[in-house]
Amino acid sequence: MPKILVTRHLGQQAMTVLEQSGLDLIVNPEDAAPSRDWVLGHLANPEVQAICLMHSQPSDKVDEQLLDAASPNLRCVSTFSVGYDHINVKAANARGVKVGHTPGVLDDAVADLTVMLVLMTLRRVGESIQLVRSGGWPQLPWAPFVNCGQSISHPSLTIGFLGFGRISQAALERLLVFTNKTDRPQIIYNSSRRRDNQDTIDADFSKRYGVDVKRVEKEELAAKSDILIVLCDLNPSTKDLVNKSFFEQMKESAILVNVARGPIVNSEDLHEALTTGQIWGAGLDVLTGEPNITADHPLLHVKNCLVLPHLGSADYDTRNKMAELCARNAIAAVRGDELLAEVKL
Ligand code: DGY
Repeated sequence: MPKILVTRHLGQQAMTVLEQSGLDLIVNPEDAAPSRDWVLGHLANPEVQAICLMHSQPSDKVDEQLLDAASPNLRCVSTFSVGYDHINVKAANARGVKVGHTPGVLDDAVADLTVMLVLMTLRRVGESIQLVRSGGWPQLPWAPFVNCGQSISHPSLTIGFLGFGRISQAALERLLVFTNKTDRPQIIYNSSRRRDNQDTIDADFSKRYGVDVKRVEKEELAAKSDILIVLCDLNPSTKDLVNKSFFEQMKESAILVNVARGPIVNSEDLHEALTTGQIWGAGLDVLTGEPNITADHPLLHVKNCLVLPHLGSADYDTRNKMAELCARNAIAAVRGDELLAEVKL
């Protein structure tokens, strides 16, 4: 009987979908990441044809070791995430293993959080909460320019995106609501591909959003953005892309918001950029080394840096939708159907 291996309980909604599929399930009984041995051991079972796994669990990293341990009957690794930097997709595909993921269903949640981080960083909300909590408010009472930040409706604003997929566009739609109504912002973005019909693509974007949208090179993105939002994939070409030389090109008044993956931004270089005034502030939902970020992490001691524990998709509706899509991808693979959302390189 074909089985689906589930490395973490997916919540009742998705578990019901799995149970009603009629397929056998092997579910990690703990509400915690399993051991690597638990995962590898079960994958060796020739009845296991699909695995539902988490991007956040080291036990679930899909590398050559895991693929070697799996029986040749494995058809699908289905990740509970849109990102797949924890999966060696080429190696999986080379063994006939499809990779499922969860695009689309988390766009709104991540876009909401992006907007929140932009506003919180511009308005210095992180350090202000800290000020109040630490009893510092009496020393900094209301005064004309005390605790002031920057306005998102400032004229001549340039918003830059590193990566301009669905989530960036959903974030842009939201951000435009807050921006200056007469002096509209300029939108620039960089993405890994420059297409032959780039001008037409940019003209279509401009029409869709009612503002000027243009693809630029990375250098121009760094130099011109007042708000720089990182929303690209993590892959060898984007690792450490936002580094010392990138920060050196940025405006001193600029803010950086990273809602993609930590390693796209070099943490040491960001620390230097924030503490030397090369940039004005940062809002991070992700950080290299997460979740092992302890209280002594240097970036947690920089007052113009706000760090969240990877909350992008963390609302109940979104996580249930992700879980269900993860489950349905696995079921489809075992039945020999097309995945609902397959990573295609
Ligand atoms: C994803 O789906 O890749 C997100 O990072 C999870 O929140």
